[in-house]
Amino acid sequence: MKKRVFITNNLPSVAYQRLSKKFQVTWNKTQLNQKQLLTKVRPYHALLTTLADPITSEVLKAASQLRCVANCAVGYNNIDLKTAKERGIWVTNTPEVLTEATADIVWALILSCARRVPEGERMVRKGKFKGAHPLMLLGVDLFCKTLGVFGFGRIGKAVARRGRGWNMKVLYHQRKRESRQVERAYNARYVSFEKLLKFSDFLSVNSPLTLETRHRFKEKEFKQMKRTAVFINAGRGSIHLEKDLIKALKRKWIYSAGLDVYEFEPRIERELLKLQNCTLLPHLGSATVETRNKMALLASKNIELVLRNNKPKTPVFTF
Ligand code: GLV
Repeated sequence: MKKRVFITNNLPSVAYQRLSKKFQVTWNKTQLNQKQLLTKVRPYHALLTTLADPITSEVLKAASQLRCVANCAVGYNNIDLKTAKERGIWVTNTPEVLTEATADIVWALILSCARRVPEGERMVRKGKFKGAHPLMLLGVDLFCKTLGVFGFGRIGKAVARRGRGWNMKVLYHQRKRESRQVERAYNARYVSFEKLLKFSDFLSVNSPLTLETRHRFKEKEFKQMKRTAVFINAGRGSIHLEKDLIKALKRKWIYSAGLDVYEFEPRIERELLKLQNCTLLPHLGSATVETRNKMALLASKNIELVLRNNKPKTPVFTF
């Protein structure tokens, strides 16, 4: 009998096309909450999931034959890893294929904040543009400034690499220092967290969400940053404390913020929506046609491998 796969959400159709050649596939195209997932997942051997799907311990326990949860994302904080591991269920993600697209969205935010692109756009659309003025919507330069990267993994490095185009000095911080060779390749200098806060003109958060990084950017940290600094988060919303970021933007402790992710995603603090000195995107990090297709195919490949009793290509842990 064919193994059963459940696609929990609306994903690029390449996943369904590929998987349905080999397995019995059910494709759910609406957003399910945890309770709905609990009842739906029962008969399946594999789940193809997204960040928006809460794969809790209860969901994992409800599917007694489950062997693989393939998340179509690089992050996997929507999945209860402990229960998955205990039950011998593989969990996989989609690293590498989304690195460049995500680094591009970081840079879209950097440029938008520095040059006040959304404010200019809103002005034009509202019919308020009455001619160029020497003091209209003045932003900040990027050229030769300092780019700080918090979390120097694949995406952090791709963000740093783009900084060369603006002749930027690159500082980075993470738990472990990279080798000299890597630092040389990216022309990046390892600094303490305090120095990263103090010297960055543009500070990009590119670390995963862990117990250690949760709420790492709060009032105290925003106060240590330059008043001209731009804070970018395209990693995970809970790495900053949203109410403190709002305070920092309102009181001008920092110049601006560019966000692709939110602490209570998809809910966004009302006060944030009212502020002009921030650029807000709806979690578009990897949202290009090519990248999303690659992610869906990689997730499908992982399911195929596991259901054929092989090790998946990109597991988030091993047994
Ligand atoms: C996006 O946020 C991802 O984790 O892929």
